Amino acid sequence: MVADDAFREFLSLAGQSGPLTKQPTNYGRKPIVAKALMATQSQIEETYNYMDQVFRAAYGEDADVSGAMFNGDFSLSLEQAQHAKHEYILTHLSVGPGKRVLDIGCGWGPLLRALQQHGATGLGITLSTKQAEACRRNGLDARVSDWKHSDRASLGQFDAIAGVGSLEAFCSKEEFLEGKQNEIYSRFFAFCHQLLRPGGRLFIQTMTWGKNAPSLHDISLEADKTSNEYIVALTEKFYPGCWLPSGESQIIDCASPYFKVVSSNSGRLDYMETIRQWNRRLRLNFSILIAMLRTLRYFLIDRNFRFKLMSLVQGCQYECFKREIMDHHRMVFERIGAADD
Ligand SMILES: C[S@@+](CC[C@H](N)C(=O)[O-])C[C@H]1O[C@@H](n2cnc3c(N)ncnc32)[C@H](O)[C@@H]1O
Repeated sequence: MVADDAFREFLSLAGQSGPLTKQPTNYGRKPIVAKALMATQSQIEETYNYMDQVFRAAYGEDADVSGAMFNGDFSLSLEQAQHAKHEYILTHLSVGPGKRVLDIGCGWGPLLRALQQHGATGLGITLSTKQAEACRRNGLDARVSDWKHSDRASLGQFDAIAGVGSLEAFCSKEEFLEGKQNEIYSRFFAFCHQLLRPGGRLFIQTMTWGKNAPSLHDISLEADKTSNEYIVALTEKFYPGCWLPSGESQIIDCASPYFKVVSSNSGRLDYMETIRQWNRRLRLNFSILIAMLRTLRYFLIDRNFRFKLMSLVQGCQYECFKREIMDHHRMVFERIGAADD
């Protein structure tokens, strides 16, 4: 309650407040169709370094910053559902003692912790220096490294790879507009193929555009504040440099020269419950307020930070899932081909 009120206080000072309460507008348009670089390191740094203290104070040192797995049972706590997600990933990746696993976009290290607890060796890569520092402080192996500038020589070979909530950052809006999205995803799957042993598995969890995504050219902060166009514009401020894949079929198509699909399911409702529980937790924890006060200076000097805050307070990501502007997928792939195909 305290944190929530403080956020609102911030916003009313800035002359911008109030949740998005009206019903979604379905514009009857086709979802954006994606074609083929990414969030730059400074954009990722900006996003996660601001969040670093608040996030760790609210959710724990190595908490997940991605959707959990409730599987329809919303009586589960966030911790139980995140644990269920880790178990699901490790089972589907056939991970056990002695296996070497790469976590692309490791965040504050939740999956690395689960790997450690299962006797596997995890290596995490992230673009955020704060995340890598936090992981290492907590006994997890993580580097600041961009998969686009990495290869088998720099990272080694793996039995399995996971990318939980990172694919969203691989292609920027500018790259999408230049028609580079498919090319980027194809490069990503080629990279994973190169690092995996034959038959090795890859787990991807990602947001995608949903059936009610607005037309790209209508997305605007000038749009009606209850419109899909406005909330996507605000959500974009929270995730600078990120443009989503059009849907699971685009991802499967790009993976197909290198991987066969083992399974795919939607985690949209699970992500909504994750956000509900994140919000509840924010209201309950006093130490968060202290961490938030430390970020106050950003509010005064950085316009983008104010937009990020608005996006959080107005519950933009939740609205995107609720209105099916965005969807969410958990996908398991298996590497095809022999050793160095
Ligand atoms: C939403 S966070 C998810 C973190 C973690 N997997 C989790 O579930 O809590 C996205 C992560 O992807 C990382 N990331 C984004 N683009 C990347 C890239 N090109 N190479 C490596 N990591 C990247 C970010 O630094 C961040 O750690």
